[in-house]
Amino acid sequence: MKTGLCDIHNHILYGLDDGSKSLEMSLNMARTAYDNGTRTIIATPHFNPTVWNRNKDDILARFEEVKKAVMAEFRDMRMFSGCEVFWHDRLTPRDYEEKRIPTLAGSRYVLFEFMPLAEFSKIRSAVLTTVEHGYIPIVAHIERFACLVEKPDRVYELSDHGAYLQVNAESIDGRAGRGIQKFIKKLMKDRMIDFVGTDAHADTGDRTMEMQDAYRWVAKKIGAEYADRIFIENPECIINDIYLD
Ligand SMILES: [Fe+2]
Repeated sequence: MKTGLCDIHNHILYGLDDGSKSLEMSLNMARTAYDNGTRTIIATPHFNPTVWNRNKDDILARFEEVKKAVMAEFRDMRMFSGCEVFWHDRLTPRDYEEKRIPTLAGSRYVLFEFMPLAEFSKIRSAVLTTVEHGYIPIVAHIERFACLVEKPDRVYELSDHGAYLQVNAESIDGRAGRGIQKFIKKLMKDRMIDFVGTDAHADTGDRTMEMQDAYRWVAKKIGAEYADRIFIENPECIINDIYLD
């Protein structure tokens, strides 16, 4: 089993969004992660003040509580605080300037999500605005946006504009269907995917903290060097707040 994997997108913190429902469930999720070789977790609850109304202090307090419980069981698991930021039209340049947009592990990287049927122009504008303000955008689970799956060339365009791209582990290993897996495989052949997350919302069901199968699939179909890059090395660039190579 490959160890040292990093999950940059999950809802392991309980009681903040539609993710984990209790401390026990959060711990179960950490156990699955550990059994899958994951040794770094960036916890990313939804940040969408119009729906969840959580502020940064609530999130940080919950993060510290869950981290303490996880570390008591797994001393070599690293945990960092982050958010999955829902992009909406009311985000203004002042939100960036006054640092109201939560980032990953205190870095300049921001993980953004959109509505599944978001128009491409909206995703592009989020990327451009974020880059313009000195932050580094990561587009969460790109395989879930119809405008990108229908026209994969747009993924290349987002990358040209400075976006990094994340896909979900379940979409890589085939749990989300062959069509999605094919879409991802083509992008991986061009080294377009930068990060993997589980987007786990619970300790059972479709999206759990499982990553090992996805790692193996990438290592086998694309190459071990690339698998190491997107599961291990690129996430380290977030933690060190440096650009990817
Ligand atoms: Fe998510």
